[in-house]
Amino acid sequence: MILPLSLTQKPSFSIPTRLRRLRSSSAIRTLVEETTLQKKDFVQPLFLQEGKCSIEEITSMPHVFRYSIDEAKKKIAFCLEKGIFSFALFPVISHEKKSFHAREALSEEGVIPQALIELKKSFPEAYFIVDIALDPYTSHGHDGLLDERGEVANDPTIDVLQKMSILYASCGADMLAPSDMMDGRIGCIRKALDDAGWQAAALLSYSAKYASTFYGPFRNAVKAGSLQGTKASYQLNPANKREALLEAELDAKEHADILMIKPAGHYVDIISSIKSQTKRPIAAYHVSGEYAMILAAEEKGIFSAEKAFFEVFLSIKRAGADLIFTYAIDYILPYLEK
Ligand code: PBG
Repeated sequence: MILPLSLTQKPSFSIPTRLRRLRSSSAIRTLVEETTLQKKDFVQPLFLQEGKCSIEEITSMPHVFRYSIDEAKKKIAFCLEKGIFSFALFPVISHEKKSFHAREALSEEGVIPQALIELKKSFPEAYFIVDIALDPYTSHGHDGLLDERGEVANDPTIDVLQKMSILYASCGADMLAPSDMMDGRIGCIRKALDDAGWQAAALLSYSAKYASTFYGPFRNAVKAGSLQGTKASYQLNPANKREALLEAELDAKEHADILMIKPAGHYVDIISSIKSQTKRPIAAYHVSGEYAMILAAEEKGIFSAEKAFFEVFLSIKRAGADLIFTYAIDYILPYLEK
């Protein structure tokens, strides 16, 4: 090989600091790696529906399924065997059971109470986090009850969320995750749980939950009622950061055990800032639209979904997330550390 003149000449300058030394082989790159993804960092969301032996792929989220409780057991057993032990449960409620007042949310025969009782019995070592919000149960698709003007009513909604939390705690939920963004709900739910004797039930607050387009596929997943208006009167404006820090600060004061930021990938600045203002663990939710977007790119031959997911999760963890909710665990499992 004939080398170009510039590669054969001794340079006339010296560069003592050469960062490429620590990038020169796989061994040294691994030695200086700052962030690693581990199995324990991940929470597997599960969509649960009524019935038996039923498993349905969600059209807006390829390779994600709605499971009847018996089918969910198979998925959970698979996850536990692979080292994933925590699950976020979401209900899929049939159209006939949705109502203006979200009555099904408080039914002991509902899919979540029934699932909790069964799943806790079958998998005592698993950890179950249950979403607390009314949108799967309302005919109008909002996370709370509507007042006579059609506005989401803060305090009456909290009253239902408190009852829901007590019901789910009594059925075995390890952690309750209010995702509704009502003001003051963390303090009120904590008090209701404590007064009812459920001091051990933990609270993960969706503290910085933005009004995001990226939730679109999820609404299809839970067969949400067609939304009248927007969720902008309770979820955060994507333009705001200080407001998110204030939400997180208030939730911590109201004794939330974990603070969540959602969506995750486009909100790493929020993750990083909340991490630096609190000593509580930080969760990030890589949401349905973030998932679907990467799969759509792979389908078009643009890039590999596996590599994209891995890179996004590294970024989310590097920003400060201690745990990550995602639908993409199966794609990255082979690359995760124990
Ligand atoms: C319910 C809830 C939503 C998500 C989690 N809990 C939807 C919403 O607020 O509209 C979104 C999750 C996802 O998109 O993956 N309040």
